[in-house]
Amino acid sequence: MKRSNAPEPSLDPKDWDELRELGQRMVKDMVDYLKTVRDRPLHRTIPENTSQFLRQPVPHGAQPAEEVYDDFLEHVLPYPHGNIHPRFWGWVVGTGTPFGMLADMLAAGMNSNSGFGNQAVIHVESQVIRWLREALGLTANGGGSLTSGCSIANLSGLTVARDTRAPHDIRSRGLQDQPPMAVYGSSETHSSNHRALEILGLGRAAFRTIPVDGEHRIVVAELERRIREDHAAGVIPVAVIGNAGTVNIGAFDDLEALAAICGEHGVWLHVDGAFGALAALAPRQHHLLAGLEKADSVAFDLHKWLHIPYDAGAVLFKDPQVAQHTFQMTGAYLSPFESGVATGPMNYMDRGLQMSRGFRALKVWMSIKHFGIDQLAATIQQNIEHARYLAGLIDAEESLELLAPVPLNIVNFRFSPPSVRSHAEQLDRWNRQILLGLHEDGVAAPSHTNLDGQFSIRAAITNHRSRFEDFDVLVREVVNRGKRLIDADTRIPSSPKEPEASVDREAP
Ligand SMILES: Cc1ncc(COP(=O)(O)O)c(C=O)c1O
Repeated sequence: MKRSNAPEPSLDPKDWDELRELGQRMVKDMVDYLKTVRDRPLHRTIPENTSQFLRQPVPHGAQPAEEVYDDFLEHVLPYPHGNIHPRFWGWVVGTGTPFGMLADMLAAGMNSNSGFGNQAVIHVESQVIRWLREALGLTANGGGSLTSGCSIANLSGLTVARDTRAPHDIRSRGLQDQPPMAVYGSSETHSSNHRALEILGLGRAAFRTIPVDGEHRIVVAELERRIREDHAAGVIPVAVIGNAGTVNIGAFDDLEALAAICGEHGVWLHVDGAFGALAALAPRQHHLLAGLEKADSVAFDLHKWLHIPYDAGAVLFKDPQVAQHTFQMTGAYLSPFESGVATGPMNYMDRGLQMSRGFRALKVWMSIKHFGIDQLAATIQQNIEHARYLAGLIDAEESLELLAPVPLNIVNFRFSPPSVRSHAEQLDRWNRQILLGLHEDGVAAPSHTNLDGQFSIRAAITNHRSRFEDFDVLVREVVNRGKRLIDADTRIPSSPKEPEASVDREAP
């Protein structure tokens, strides 16, 4: 075939200087944007013209880079979820850092695939894994890898647990001919673990829900009873999921006790420490994680309490080889060479669920180096003190009620003046309205949960930008909004002893 003389298409810029200038503008704009985040409302409703704009069909023609950037400035940047704002405490979401943003840009520039190969990228991830192990007080000779988050880290840990504990080789035979298997965890276990069991083909029915005590910690005696019961019935007890920081209130299971039970019964101990595992960095919280070093696998997030920009999590294994047995890829096209590009110290594609993987490790490596573990630990400790401060404000305010203990960084409460405390339905409705109002007005964003059938406003504090004064604002806003709702609510009877009358009046 004859070579064509037509210009060969490439996606590099035609004018590199112009792109450099645009890049400098982008960096300047984003640094300014981050610097002024406190001055803006936390959230804004997406207007109709932006919704329309974001439904346009695929563009076939080219658009100048400056114009694309303008579209981003007009239609994307002004409408975030709000999680970088100092008063965002919803779900469990991290804040990120300006330096992490820059690190992510460098990783995108290198555009490395960290699945395998003779490249520094692999060494960087290995160093990050060693640092994380050291910071959490785990043995240096274990292994692990970075993941997109804790859901995938939980799935990875439980996959290896299942494969290790199944009596017949699961990689070749699948679930055929295997005896029934069971996984144990408290009623407070995060739903990503239940979803993992569904994906693993064990199904939700394989999850044994163990009750918790008044502090939301797994009842160890009941766990052991269920394991013995399953053993006797021919069911294989595969894994116990220990919670290091439950999603509802931040409670810690007794990991030492779980490790002892797992050791005695030959069961895998997986710890879901999405945010709580990182409490180990703060010296005053270390005791909460006693026993973590005995876990077979530990899953946690770096995008939550380490403030690495989304997304980044990690799964660590006590035995570095076990993950390889489960995840090792095959194929002639993947076999390594002795030297050159296709060699390297280790293949991360054989250690987890992803083959192609971005250079997630760079933002973690650069952030840990830049901030240092001590400063990262100080922000964690500060959030714990914020939670205690908020709990104190709630205790001191008659119209507010704490709904759960505050073992770490999560505070559950509601607006509940004593005079109307018996009106359960109204209280749920008002608190819902208060929360919606806070969100819609962009004032603050705690989220909610249900505790003992009650609607709870839940502040999960993993935010290095929050200041004590932000919690004063939250309490003031909740109380004022609550009082206005009571005043406006004609359904409230004059005496709290007449709930039937209020039910009648509620009917349409
Ligand atoms: C205890 C717990 N486990 C797992 C997860 C899932 O983590 P991710 O959202 O990073 O997948 C969360 C998320 O909040 C969590 O709180």
